[in-house]
Amino acid sequence: MRIFEASWSLACVVVAGFALCGAAQAQAAVTPDPTDVGKNVFKRANCMGCHKWHGNGGGGYGGDALSLRKTELTREQIVETIGCGRPATGMPFFIRGAYDTIKCHDMTRQDLGDQMPPEATGFLRPNEIEAVADYVIARIKGKGEPSYAECISFFSDGSRVCNTYKTPGESAETAGKAQ
Ligand code: HEC
Repeated sequence: MRIFEASWSLACVVVAGFALCGAAQAQAAVTPDPTDVGKNVFKRANCMGCHKWHGNGGGGYGGDALSLRKTELTREQIVETIGCGRPATGMPFFIRGAYDTIKCHDMTRQDLGDQMPPEATGFLRPNEIEAVADYVIARIKGKGEPSYAECISFFSDGSRVCNTYKTPGESAETAGKAQ
C-alpha cells in the first residue's frame, strides 16, 4: 500500500510538471511585447505621418520631422517634446492644456505668440505619451537603418511598403525568424 501511494504521488508530480510546462509555453506564445502599446499610439497619433514608420522622419506636411533614430534626447525630454510640441516648428503638442493649464517651457500661448507649435489632431493622455516615448526608446532610437524585419514587425503583415527594405532572398518568414 505504501509503495502504491509513493508511485501515485510521483505520477502526480510528473503530471503537474507537464501541466506547468504547458502553461508556461502557452503564456510565452501570447505575451505581447510591452512596447506594442506605444507602437499603437505611434500609429494612432500619426507620429508615423511625419516621422514615418521607421522614425527617420524627413520632409512632409509637418515640415522636416527630425530622425527619432538619431535623436539624442532622453526619455524625459522625449515625453516633454510630445506633450509640449516644439515651439516655432511643426512638431505638434499632444497634451490638452499645454501652455495654458499645463506648464511647457515656462511659457504661455501669449508669450509664444506666432511661435506656438500646432495642436495635434488628437490629444494623448499622459500614460499614452509615456508609452509612445518608451516605444521610441526601445525600438527606434539608435537603431541604425530600418530593416525589412523591423518593417514587417511594425505593420504586422507582409505590407507592400516593406518590399523596399527587402534584401535579395529575404521573405516575411526568414525575416520573422531572424528577429
Ligand atoms: C505634423 C507632423 C508631426 C507629427 C504628427 C509628429 N511630429 Fe514629432 N516632430 C515633427 C517635426 C517637424 C519635428 C522637428 C522639430 C525641430 O525642427 O526641432 C519633430 C520632432 C520630434 C522630436 C524631437 C527629436 C529631437 O531629436 O529633437 C520627437 C521626440 C518627436 N518629434 C516625437 C514625435 C512623436 C512620438 C509623435 C507622435 C506622438 C510625433 N513626434 C508627431 C513633426 C511631427
